[in-house]
Amino acid sequence: MTTHVSSVDVDVLSASIRLRPKRRVRPGDPVVSRGERLRRGVLFDNEIDIIDCYIDLIAALAIAGGRGFQRTFRRHIVAGQTNAKHLLSFSDGAISACVYENVENLVVDGIVVNLSTQTIWHEGSVNAPIQPWRSSTVTKGKFLKADRIAVLKVEEPENIGGVMLRGWTWFGDVFRGLPRGIPLYVSSIDTVGSVSEDPMAFTRERPVAEEMRRFDIKLKLWWSPGKTDAFIHNEHPFLETHTQIYGYGRMQKFRQRKAEAVYEDVVMAPGFTHEPFCLVTGADEYKYPWHRYYADTDAFWLAIELHPQTPGQ
Ligand SMILES: [Fe+2]
Repeated sequence: MTTHVSSVDVDVLSASIRLRPKRRVRPGDPVVSRGERLRRGVLFDNEIDIIDCYIDLIAALAIAGGRGFQRTFRRHIVAGQTNAKHLLSFSDGAISACVYENVENLVVDGIVVNLSTQTIWHEGSVNAPIQPWRSSTVTKGKFLKADRIAVLKVEEPENIGGVMLRGWTWFGDVFRGLPRGIPLYVSSIDTVGSVSEDPMAFTRERPVAEEMRRFDIKLKLWWSPGKTDAFIHNEHPFLETHTQIYGYGRMQKFRQRKAEAVYEDVVMAPGFTHEPFCLVTGADEYKYPWHRYYADTDAFWLAIELHPQTPGQ
């Protein structure tokens, strides 16, 4: 592995070792010398990128050369606000839901969703990867490093289905095409941040990201009682996948818009995230098959949506 670190990078890296916490430069910040700015922990985006890249390099070297080096070095170099926690708008006493950013050696319980474009590592008797936009269920699970993860956990199963009494919306009230008989409810939507992703990497049409696009990440929870047909549809102006949180169901694909035309069932069990269903057909254009969620039992499932940002955002 060849790595070039310039004298400017060394300047930033040596400063970063002393910084706690660091933050990005904001409009209106006073103009001060570079040294003073680094002393205060106020960094430009490219400087934060340098630090993050270097941490990745160190992690790679540690995997190759032994874990003791990784532990020792990372304790000193990580200077940012690590494990920043954001409670999601739909978190409540029944299901807790939060997002962590700049994850470092974080211990969590529940269903963990990787909301980043990098593989993250769950420490165990044998460390295990979680691929981008996939998930797992962990007990006192320690995550070594991640840009952003969501963690959801069922806290109180009793009366868990009373979402309509906890402020959720019957989907027919926001989408007029939903037949009146379908008991499909949706939580509030939380925009948890943005990410640069190659949509064709998201859909697995490319093994390695090439053409990056900026997306907002939006999360929301769905709920239906068992035996609910959560509506066949095939249009989304965004990339989506889903993680099962509670109960069991299926994400189904259809050749035509009718239940008898089903051609694939992806069984959804708690902690599982399905592969994206769409392909990229143009700039911010995605082709979906007819698809639906079908709740086999009372079920909560998390929607993970990547919405293309409009210019100027
Ligand atoms: Fe969909």
